[in-house]
Amino acid sequence: MILKNCVALITGASQGLGKAFAEALLKKEAKVVICDINRAQGAVAKAEFDQRYGPDRSMFMACDVTSLPQMKDVFCETVQTFGRLDVLCNNAGINNESSWEKTISVNLVALIQASYLALEHMRCDHGGKGGSIVNVASMSGFIPAAHAPVYTASKHGVLGFTRSLAEASRLGNYGIRINALCPSFVNTSILDTINHEENLGTFYQFKDSVKNLMNVFGVLEPSDIAEGFVQLLEDDSLNGAVMKITTTKGVHFEKY
Ligand SMILES: NC(=O)c1ccc[n+]([C@@H]2O[C@H](COP(=O)([O-])OP(=O)(O)OC[C@H]3O[C@@H](n4cnc5c(N)ncnc54)[C@H](O)[C@@H]3O)[C@@H](O)[C@H]2O)c1
Repeated sequence: MILKNCVALITGASQGLGKAFAEALLKKEAKVVICDINRAQGAVAKAEFDQRYGPDRSMFMACDVTSLPQMKDVFCETVQTFGRLDVLCNNAGINNESSWEKTISVNLVALIQASYLALEHMRCDHGGKGGSIVNVASMSGFIPAAHAPVYTASKHGVLGFTRSLAEASRLGNYGIRINALCPSFVNTSILDTINHEENLGTFYQFKDSVKNLMNVFGVLEPSDIAEGFVQLLEDDSLNGAVMKITTTKGVHFEKY
């Protein structure tokens, strides 16, 4: 996919990884819709992007990804403003074991919902022009984590859904590539959730094991992950791929 002038919708893009993905695409002269529940941080990101890339290249929409009406509005507004939709990045995510149903809702249910909305807009076999979906999973999509069983379940779910939908797209000639991105630890605010008992609930007692893992494996920067994200979009051969990014191996792919 040539990213210049393509239109991308990124959830949870006010800060952290989503913001880095948005900036990487703006650098490639794409147009970006930043969708996030955090209005204040969204306004900051939009102002920064306006200054660096011009006000016409991006749009911020305050939105809760778990709300179907709000997400439908985001998709409609994207197409009305920029005339098309080429990329969806399902990036919004939380780590809250106390409100575990909410974690499943944001990390998995909303990701499925947004993917289906994107299919409606992009499927070639339904009159669309094709496109690309990147679902942000995690290394927690592969390995157990005592401090975060439900977060881990949600990310395992993202991988199963992504690979299955990619296969449906291939067999059904949707013209849409669907891939997953699995970073290890990255320096964003989600890492701070492990320091708070109200997030981890009964699993707070295991927080030191994950801190030890961070010390052993190190912590990446969002820009490191954005490089992999761009690769997933630009490489038209990738569908159903599961990209892992770690400090030890850099960008590599899970072999199934
Ligand atoms: N940072 C890491 O170590 C790491 C590692 C692997 C995967 N991930 C994944 O990366 C993604 C991005 O997380 P991050 O690290 O940038 O954390 P972050 O907390 O900085 O960003 C998450 C963003 O999602 C937004 N968000 C949360 N709930 C939302 C909702 N209901 N509707 C809309 N937006 C919502 C937040 O406002 C925030 O801007 C998540 O899916 C996370 O699970 C992060």
